[in-house]
Amino acid sequence: MDGRKPVPLLPMMANHQKQNMREHLAAVQDIVAALATDDFAGVEKAAGRIGFSEQMGMMCTHMGAGAPGFTEQALAFHHAADRITDAAKAQDKARVLAELNATLKHCTGCHETWKQQLVDEPTWTKLTASAPPTPH
Ligand code: HEC
Repeated sequence: MDGRKPVPLLPMMANHQKQNMREHLAAVQDIVAALATDDFAGVEKAAGRIGFSEQMGMMCTHMGAGAPGFTEQALAFHHAADRITDAAKAQDKARVLAELNATLKHCTGCHETWKQQLVDEPTWTKLTASAPPTPH
């Protein structure tokens, strides 16, 4: 019935991921609100919350350690969000909207593909044994 692929996560990580997700949605809301008033600095600030950073990259690598392909999709999403920032810097409203649309496609595309699967410590260790170690 549900054809999505599992992303194995420890319960704490799964909770953390959902918190991040709700924060991503709040950032999108703030982007739209700022854009409605041509507040490009506000767009830039909100887009920065979903943009790529080394810390974000590390977290996504950790989250996807048991789900080959997940991290790549996550990183592509954050890089797409960086292009919203570029468009905001150029004060180009149409381009901000186009890049926001492109970014939202990453949200929906990932949601179509993956769902959380809660696992216990031994399962997590087994599933991620071949993955490179990532800091918590
Ligand atoms: C790389 C994959 C990926 C990307 C990109 C992604 N998400 Fe998610 N998101 C997930 C997964 C996995 C879940 C958990 C789904 C499940 O288990 O049913 C989730 C869940 C959510 C939830 C539900 C949170 C909760 O409390 O249950 C929201 C809201 C959400 N995402 C918003 C977003 C928004 C907005 C974006 C883009 C700006 C986004 N996500 C991008 C993978 C992703």
